[in-house]
Amino acid sequence: MSAVTRLPAWQALQQRIDTALNTPIKSLFDDPARCGQYTLKVQNILLDISKQPIDNDTFGLLLQLAAEVDIESRREAMFNGQHINVTEDRAVLHTALRNRSNTPVYVDGEDVMPIIEHELKRMRVFVKAVRSGRWRGYSGKRITDVVNIGIGGSDLGPRMVTQALKPYADDRIRVHFVSNVDGVEIANVLRELNPERVLFVVASKTFTTSETMTNAQTARNWLMASSFDSRAVAKHFVAVSSNVAAVKAFGIKPENTFQMWDWVGGRFSLWSAIGLPIALYLGFKQFEELLQGAHEMDLHFRHEPLNSNAPVWLALTTLWNSTFLGRQSQAILPYDWPLARFSAYLQQAEMESNGKSVDSHGQPVPYGTGSIIWGQLGIDGQHAFYQYLHQGNAVVPADFIGSIESSTPVQGHHEKLMANFFAQTEALMCGIDADHVRTELAAKGLDEARIEQLIPHKVHEGNRPTNSLILDRLDPRTLGALIALYEHKIFVLGSIWDICSFDQWGVELGKTLAKGILPELEEGVLREGHDDSTASLMTYFIEQRRALKARE
Ligand code: F6P
Repeated sequence: MSAVTRLPAWQALQQRIDTALNTPIKSLFDDPARCGQYTLKVQNILLDISKQPIDNDTFGLLLQLAAEVDIESRREAMFNGQHINVTEDRAVLHTALRNRSNTPVYVDGEDVMPIIEHELKRMRVFVKAVRSGRWRGYSGKRITDVVNIGIGGSDLGPRMVTQALKPYADDRIRVHFVSNVDGVEIANVLRELNPERVLFVVASKTFTTSETMTNAQTARNWLMASSFDSRAVAKHFVAVSSNVAAVKAFGIKPENTFQMWDWVGGRFSLWSAIGLPIALYLGFKQFEELLQGAHEMDLHFRHEPLNSNAPVWLALTTLWNSTFLGRQSQAILPYDWPLARFSAYLQQAEMESNGKSVDSHGQPVPYGTGSIIWGQLGIDGQHAFYQYLHQGNAVVPADFIGSIESSTPVQGHHEKLMANFFAQTEALMCGIDADHVRTELAAKGLDEARIEQLIPHKVHEGNRPTNSLILDRLDPRTLGALIALYEHKIFVLGSIWDICSFDQWGVELGKTLAKGILPELEEGVLREGHDDSTASLMTYFIEQRRALKARE
């Protein structure tokens, strides 16, 4: 038995599983206090967890569990720069990047706030130069397009945020993203652009990621083909990285390099210079608003008691559904078009962080950890996969996210959108029983035999858990808070599971194998040691490529 499963609250929670599975969630509302009791308003975000299979006793025990694993001390350890990333022996300080309180944050005895402020100042100056047209391309033309070249945490955050905050952008700068090593993506992006007016941001914490390096090289060749002068690189390329030496070797000058640090995890890095495309697109003031919103959520998370702490609540709903009730996936369903990429963003944030199966001491964990995160815009999902959510034989807890005010109001649209939000969460919880279906079909004049035949197909069991998050509006500050809310949720879950949420060793093996396979594909010669299946697929690929080339 692991240490956490021996805790009194854990043991008591196990005794609550049957009750939770056999109690209709809607019956919990017999308690008239429930709505108020399970709703929190933090900054501009209303969080309602009342539609969860969590009664007062269970919630008390979940909070007790959070206290028994000593979330408060773990939280302080993170904010105070202790090396909570134990396998990489690093601090985890994305919170310092958005610390707007003018207080020091120490890593190994050194206050990191001055270097953060210094880098923010460099970003501010650079953003102003580009947006004002003072920074010009090699032929003297102003920059109109920024292309971010990066992948994973060096792509998903800025890509999601720039889409989410499009209504706050002016038309000075357009922004594009290239992450995939499939040449189709970069070719599609470059086709639309004028090399004299493009700024490439090569974003890579390590500056070794093969996809990013390949795309950066292709972009440089494309620029050279038009400028015929290697000095053009200085006008059209900047880098964001913690590997300054590798950036220099690539040919980007130190004055065009923005720094990040090893205590910033890639998937938590949009608050660093990785957010440069956000600032270039929206202006630095809006970027600072994003930081401010996240900082305010940090303050809430750090100082609010567990029983009124939004990230803790969100984490406990996932813990209960996944680890105790065995629901392995979780859907993220925004009813706010600008959040179209939010679930893709959270997929990396949560799954790379908590997709672990050993605890911080290297022992196998005997319970379910990180959920499978997936989703897309709720309305589109309704016409795609909601059938499964309502009647599939696996229960998928879902977070619904909507806003009071649309960031781009269009007459008659927003109420329709939100009517669906409320309808779906209601339907998922309440369902519709056989009697109801029978009455409905009888009213339509169907005969009894047909009615009985249809009933099992039309019954919705309901009892499907959802959280509702309602934002005042999706502005930069609120988005910052929303992202930080989920970041801290991930931290709380990792703390309770006692896993290291801040490493990602599981991505290494595939990368290493790909490095070895590349020369085999290029030279067309297989080395020994592949399993039979992979060897035969590679042979097929090599032969087909050879045949293709012969035909060209
Ligand atoms: O492959 C996973 C990963 O290491 C992520 O953690 C990271 O966000 C991404 O690759 C990109 O890494 P980098 O910023 O170093 O290019």
